[in-house]
Amino acid sequence: MRWRAEIARVLITDAQLARRVKSLAREIERDFRGRELVVVALLNGTVMFLADLLRHLNLPLRLDFIGVSSYGAGTETGELVFTKELRLDVRGRDLLLVDDILDTGKTLSRVLPKLRAFKPRLIKTCVLLDKPARRVAQVRADYVGFSIPNLFVVGYGLDYAERHRNLPFVGVLKSERLRSGAPRGINGNQRWC
Ligand code: IMP
Ligand code: MG
Repeated sequence: MRWRAEIARVLITDAQLARRVKSLAREIERDFRGRELVVVALLNGTVMFLADLLRHLNLPLRLDFIGVSSYGAGTETGELVFTKELRLDVRGRDLLLVDDILDTGKTLSRVLPKLRAFKPRLIKTCVLLDKPARRVAQVRADYVGFSIPNLFVVGYGLDYAERHRNLPFVGVLKSERLRSGAPRGINGNQRWC
């Protein structure tokens, strides 16, 4: 397997992901029963998590995306740039904001006020992974798949320098792969979140 050269170990297996995502969907279903949901996902890291979560959500819902990318060195969250804005009208709606991982919290603390300005009835946040030890901004998620230690992880949508998103599990990148300089992302050192 090609990934063995770059991944130190599997942190969360595909079977564990499948089980947990299904149970998160059950929790969300229970909380939003009888409501019509707008799911807003952040591009690009949510791609696999979102696809699996949605297929288990037995609720009437609409789906939209917000594009966020960050300029910054390798594993640090730098300056945030919005690359796609919300298109659906969410005024008075129940909104579920989905992200891949809650790390420093800077991304969600920028995105949440932007969403609140559209006057939804309520906003709940859902993340696959949470790294509480890294938190800088005062933000928490209502639904968390897994709380993990302070490790840089890839796979199941998560990337390092735009790579490894296609791995079916969440793995820990070998530390020698983590360069302190900016990796070559999509455009100089810009990277999708
Ligand atoms: P925050 O703004 O620091 O909370 O970071 C959120 C974004 O940083 C996530 O949506 C990811 O795109 C990225 N990120 C944070 N930690 C990791 C990681 O361990 N692996 C891959 N991406 C990460
Ligand atoms: Mg992201």
